[in-house]
Amino acid sequence: MIEKNTIQEILDTACIEEVVGEFVTLKKRGARYLGLCPFHNEKTPSFTVTPRLGIYKCFGCSKGGDSVNFLMEHEKLSYPEALKYLAKKYNIEVEEKEKTPEQVAADKVEESLLNLTDFAAKYFAHNLHSTESGKAIGLSYFKERGFRDDIINKFGLGYALDQSTAFTDHALRMGYNLDFLKQTGLTKDKGTGAYDGFRGRVMFPIYNHLGRVIAFGGRTLSSDKKVPKYVNSPESAIYHKSKELYGIHLAKNAIQQHDNCYLVEGYTDVISLFQAGFEHVVASSGTALTTDQIKLIKRYTKNITILYDGDAAGIKAAFRGIDMILEEGMDVKIVLFPDGDDPDSYARSHRSSEVEEFLKKNTTNFIFFKTGLLLEESKGDPMKMATLTREIVTSIAIIPDRIIQAYYIRECAALLKFDEETLMNELNKIRRKNYEKKVKEQQNNNHTEASIFPLPIILTSPQKIDTSTSIEQEETDLINLIVKFSDERISYLVENDGKPEKWEYSVAQYVLKDLKRDDIKLSTPLYKKIIDVVEEQLKDGIVPNQHFFLYHDDIDISSLAVTLLSSKYFLSEWKRAKIFVKTIDTMLDYETPHTLLVFKWKFLILEANKKRHQLQEADDQEQLKIIQELIRIEGKKKTLSEVLLRPLTP
Ligand code: UTP
Ligand code: MN
Repeated sequence: MIEKNTIQEILDTACIEEVVGEFVTLKKRGARYLGLCPFHNEKTPSFTVTPRLGIYKCFGCSKGGDSVNFLMEHEKLSYPEALKYLAKKYNIEVEEKEKTPEQVAADKVEESLLNLTDFAAKYFAHNLHSTESGKAIGLSYFKERGFRDDIINKFGLGYALDQSTAFTDHALRMGYNLDFLKQTGLTKDKGTGAYDGFRGRVMFPIYNHLGRVIAFGGRTLSSDKKVPKYVNSPESAIYHKSKELYGIHLAKNAIQQHDNCYLVEGYTDVISLFQAGFEHVVASSGTALTTDQIKLIKRYTKNITILYDGDAAGIKAAFRGIDMILEEGMDVKIVLFPDGDDPDSYARSHRSSEVEEFLKKNTTNFIFFKTGLLLEESKGDPMKMATLTREIVTSIAIIPDRIIQAYYIRECAALLKFDEETLMNELNKIRRKNYEKKVKEQQNNNHTEASIFPLPIILTSPQKIDTSTSIEQEETDLINLIVKFSDERISYLVENDGKPEKWEYSVAQYVLKDLKRDDIKLSTPLYKKIIDVVEEQLKDGIVPNQHFFLYHDDIDISSLAVTLLSSKYFLSEWKRAKIFVKTIDTMLDYETPHTLLVFKWKFLILEANKKRHQLQEADDQEQLKIIQELIRIEGKKKTLSEVLLRPLTP
């Protein structure tokens, strides 16, 4: 929620060559700069930066965009994060918009809690390195586990003294607030006085992806079975367990470099693998993986390799979680550790090269892994085989990418000794069901949002609507919209029985529905073909995405997609018009109906021209029919132009 004016200021101030220059060595070549592309491997520079336009563009891999886009791509920042980065670089004060007093207060609390957890982490680390018991008990435990000094420091490991109020007393003396101490679970009070939440435990600070301490895990060193092995910080304003991944702050760069993320069970697995040189590793710490955690990983890579130490039963329990990862369009692989070993123990008892060899040899794609496992289980039992097949196809159906789906269907058909078509049919059945379910869910999510219908249509001045006799430009605009944004969601509030109701569509759905309603077809053959394939997909319950067009078997479609997707024209139109749009979503809410309107208007003009032409050659009887059609067309034109020319509401 950065103030709109601030965003404009940031965008106006940012120098693309400076922003990119921080990450890429640039050489000046006339009005442009040239460098080696950071997005793909190259020896001769094809990466250009054009200061006048504020953009970069690689002619090798065709990535391109402005400063914000560069930071989002290169540093994997979100849009607001990229803006804040730039604001900081150019000393622009970021005014956060519409912050209520409650939000301001909440932010303050969060900052105080972060301040406290940071203090606590330092205190525990101090204990570990500089107190007698810390060294004798804590540090020697870590050393026994084989953790190197640099690793102990990197992970900020510490020790909580075995005294009931050592930390709380110290923190209070230093001026930290008791209420905050309790909120973070560092201090507890059951009504009989405050005492430390962690006592006599080695401490694992948990960091968020920005590297700030937000919570702790503490492991007991006692062998008493009644003492819980690990104690973890409770949920707090700064710690939402389901959104965090242990190790992410240290792993994120390596994850990007390897384009893969190892997922393990706990603290010790992360640390041991990291120490062995596998730095792209995180843990979901005790909980089943959540969508938020998957999304966090997805910022850096689309590939997850799960390292399991479980038995078959445990793995099957985890299957559900894996479907969630597949749904995010990520590729999931599995490594199963031998009985009695976990990643931690394996990494400790083997050389790095052996671990690497082991991981390489035992990495299986999840779909094949699941197929193999279930196959073994249901050998020879036809009923079980049928259930198994459905289960596997269900997993495949979740994968958003059709080409990958087709690949898995083919491979699994071979594994299961099934014919491919049967599996494909099953897949389509499940996919349609999933789609219907999704639509229903969307319909149920009809809560209101602050927008009114009909939405203000952006004004296009009549001069701007080209009156030439070709409709190609308007059709191109429409196809451009589809190829770029077909799977984006747009929504409108409509009045139903006096009540606002939210209608949601994908851009593809909206365009197709609209064209169908008015029974209008595109005239450019390639564009018509695109509309046809989109229609087919929608019928199958699939919303095509950019990837679908880019990798389409029809070379004409895929090359058009490449052309459209590498041009920035769509967005720059908006920038030129000085229309500020926060997100692509809101922009598309306007742009989709608008593009259709302009296209239809032009279509009707041409239709009318055609009719007039016919009129001249028609006999009396035909004339009357043509005139009636003309009147109908003119009527439609009038309605459309009224909408088109309606003044822009702020
Ligand atoms: P382990 O039981 O292997 O813990 O659990 P450990 O510290 O490695 O103990 P030993 O030395 O093998 O006996 C592995 C991971 O599971 C999480 C921790 O993150 C730990 O690193 N865990 C385990 C918990 O969060 N809570 C528990 O009670 C147990
Ligand atoms: Mn262990």
